Amino acid sequence: MPSLRPMTEEDLPTVDAWLRQPHVSRWWTPDTTPEAQISLYRRRVTGQEQRTHMLVVIDDEIEVGWCQWYRWADYPADALAMEAADGEAGIDYAIGAPTRIGRGVGTQLIAVLVAELRRQHPGAGVLVDPDATNLASRRVLEKNGFLLVAVRPVATDPTDAPKALYRLPAIASSHS
Ligand SMILES: CC(C)(COP(=O)(O)OP(=O)(O)OC[C@H]1O[C@@H](n2cnc3c(N)ncnc32)[C@H](O)[C@@H]1OP(=O)(O)O)[C@@H](O)C(=O)NCCC(=O)NCCS
Repeated sequence: MPSLRPMTEEDLPTVDAWLRQPHVSRWWTPDTTPEAQISLYRRRVTGQEQRTHMLVVIDDEIEVGWCQWYRWADYPADALAMEAADGEAGIDYAIGAPTRIGRGVGTQLIAVLVAELRRQHPGAGVLVDPDATNLASRRVLEKNGFLLVAVRPVATDPTDAPKALYRLPAIASSHS
C-alpha cells in the first residue's frame, strides 16, 4: 500500500513538475495554472492557509504523487453547491509520475487517504466531484465503495462541465 506524509515547501518543485504532466494538467489545471496552484500549495504547507491538508504519496519508497483533504464546512459556498452533509470531507488526488498510473496505486491511495482523514475525523463521510469524463478517477472511487449521487454542474466551479458527485457514507459511531 502507498503511504502518506505531510507535504513541505521542499516538495513543491516536484509537485510543479507533476502538475505539468499532460495526464494531470488535463484534469487539474484546465481553469488555472501550475504557478497559481503552487502558490496556493505554498500558503497551505507553510500554515498561512490551514483548511486543506496537503500530503505526498509514497509508493515503493519513492514519491509518486500528492493528495489533499479538507472539511466541506470550511468552504461554505462550495459545501452548499455540492450539497455536502454535516461533517463531510472532500479529497483530491493525483499520481504525478506517468510511469505509475494504471497500476492500482490510485485505487489504494483512495483507501489510504480516507483512512488518514478518518484518523482525525472518525467515521466522516467523504464527498468528491471528479469531472464526469474522468473515468479513471471515477473508477478508483467506485472501487473504494463510493456511490454515485449525481452527475451535474457544480455552481461554484469555473465551468458548466458536469461533475460526477460520489459519496462514501459516514460511519455512524456506536455509543453504548
Ligand atoms: C485518477 C488516478 C488517481 C487513478 O490512479 P491510477 O493508479 O491510474 O488508477 P488504478 O490503476 O488504481 O485504477 C484505474 C481504474 O480506472 C480504469 N480506467 C483508467 N482509464 C480509464 C478509461 N479511460 N476509461 C475507463 N476506465 C479507465 C482502469 O481500468 C482501472 O479500473 P479497473 O481496475 O477496474 O480496470 C490517476 O490516473 C491520476 O492521477 N490521474 C491524473 C490526475 C487526476 O485525474 N486526479 C483526479 C482528479 S478528480
